[in-house]
Order: sequence, then C-alpha cells, then structure tokens
Amino acid sequence: MRALEPGARGLATLRLAYPPAVAETATESEFGAALLAGLRAYPKRVPCKYLYDAAGAELFERICDLPEYYPTRTELALLGAHREAIAAAMGADAELIEFGAGAGRKVSLLLSALQRPRAYLPIDIAPEALAAGARAVAEAFPAVAVKPLVADYTRALRLPAPAGRRVGFFPGSTIGNFAPDEALAFLRRLAVLLRGGGLLVGVDLVKDPAVLHAAYNDSAGVTAAFNQNLLLRANRELGAGFRPELFAHYAFYHPGARRIEMHLTSLTDQEVQIAGHAIGFAAGETIHTEDSYKYTVSGFQSLAAQAGYLPREVWVDAERRFSLHWLAVPA
Ligand code: AVJ
Repeated sequence: MRALEPGARGLATLRLAYPPAVAETATESEFGAALLAGLRAYPKRVPCKYLYDAAGAELFERICDLPEYYPTRTELALLGAHREAIAAAMGADAELIEFGAGAGRKVSLLLSALQRPRAYLPIDIAPEALAAGARAVAEAFPAVAVKPLVADYTRALRLPAPAGRRVGFFPGSTIGNFAPDEALAFLRRLAVLLRGGGLLVGVDLVKDPAVLHAAYNDSAGVTAAFNQNLLLRANRELGAGFRPELFAHYAFYHPGARRIEMHLTSLTDQEVQIAGHAIGFAAGETIHTEDSYKYTVSGFQSLAAQAGYLPREVWVDAERRFSLHWLAVPA
C-alpha cells in the first residue's frame, strides 16, 4: 500500500473529514473464534477474509505487481481501454460503491472517466488500507464526496442514504472467493442495494491450468508469504505459537471445480497452542485458506441473470484471461 504524503495541514484536514466509519469489522476476538472453530473442524479451514489484516493487504498489493499474477494488470488495461464505454454504461451523477477497496488505482481510472460522479463509498475490512486508498481518491477528486466504510461486505450492509444513482464496483475477481452458490446469494444482496443502477464486476476466466497455477505459485514467494501471514497474524493477535516454517504454502488448480485452492500444509506432526487451546496437526494435514473460482463469460452471465441482473456489456482482453461485466439492475 503506497502511503500518500500530503502536507501536514492537508493530512490533518483529511483525517477530520474522512474518519472511516467502523461497522462490522473483524475484531481480534472474532478472528480468534473463527480460527479456533476452523482448526477444530475436519478438514481444517479458515475463512479467507482473515488473510487480509494490514500486513496481508500489503502483501496482496505486492502480489498484484508480480509478473505471474496477470489479473490486476489485465483488469487495469481493460478499464483503461474501455473507460468511455464503461462510463457511458454507468451513467452520469452516480454514487460509486466499491466492495473491497484496495490501493485506489482501479477506482481512480474509473472516477476520471465517469461523468460528474457524486460520491465514492469504499468498503473494506482492513481500516489502514481503506483509509490510505480513500485519502488518495479524496485528494485526486476533490469534487467527489469520499465516505469510507470499515465493514465486512460479506454480511448485511447498512449504507448511508444514496447521493445519486448507486453503481457498484467489485474488481479483482474477488467474487471468485465465493463458491458459486454463495456468489449467487451475494449478488442477489447487492442487487437490492443497487436497484435502478448496476454493478461493474471483474471476473477471472478459466484458462490453461499452467497459467493459473503460476499465478498462485510465484517464483518470488510472495503468495507463500501472503498465505503464511495468516499464522503470523494468529501469533501477533492471539499469542498463538505457530512456526510458519513448519507449514508449506500449497496452491493448485482443481479443473473439475474450476477453482484455485490455497492451503497451508503441515510438514510434520505437531501441536500448536492458540489462546490456551492445543490444536494437533498430522504431517501432511492442511488448513484450507482460500478458494479462487474461475468462470467462463457465459457461465458468469447466467449466474448474474439468476441473481436478478441484466447482463449487458462484457470486456475481455485479447488473450481471454480476464473479463469485466456490466450488469444492470432493473429499477
Ligand atoms: C483477491 C481473491 C482476487 O483470488 O486471485 C491472490 C487473492 N490469493 N493470490 C485471487 C489471492 C492468492 C485474489 N483475490
């Protein structure tokens, strides 16, 4: 996450003007409860949202710049190449809501193309990343009201009264973290919020498994560090006794399920102390830490149609790696 460096006065003003509102953030104890529950289950798994604390969000930003990780740069190129058509589809005087706001690069491209955007509501569970991104956007677009919201958008959201027709932005193929039935339920919930507007959503496409495999197994080991950060986070926040070197990053593409699965594999029989509880791991046992589902263009369009959207334009790169969908929501 690149920190913005405005002058001292500007920073103070912005801090007063844009305090991120805390809604349902993942508190430490919530993480602890979820971690213990997930590690007592069989097979062991932890919801992927817990990968994104401040350190995890920073590591994810580094993933986005990796040569093997094509989604970010492909989606940025699509946003740049089709900005006018995208802006025309989204319409003038809109309130833009971003689900899972990152460094602000993508939304800045979008905001500079939109006609008279009224407001920007970034929603994220990582307050530090959210604040930095919101500040950058507020500085670059003084005419846009920036209202960051610290919240878990996988849960019910209470939004302030709309400042204009609401349009959603859900980039990065984060939708792929949901299983298809969960994605359907999530899209249905968003459609209620976005009635009369629409959703611009980035979706990673099914492709050569070798390309997918490389994207989640980079040679610099950043994805491995991102995965292992879950254990370091447990050590930091819960005083857990994980030794990350005893858990290997293991990510693979499952062609039948059309998803990348990311795991931490125990390299030995071991017992780990977490907040006074002992959790046993057999050698070779895994913690399933993330899924990343891939779609075909038509497969995603039928999911969106089932969720109540009218699939309109789709933008795809020449190599057919990534897709951007404009989904209208009937009034
Ligand atoms: C943020 C969920 C879109 O699935 O590609 C990247 C997360 N995990 N490398 C993805 C991720 C490992 C990323 N999403």
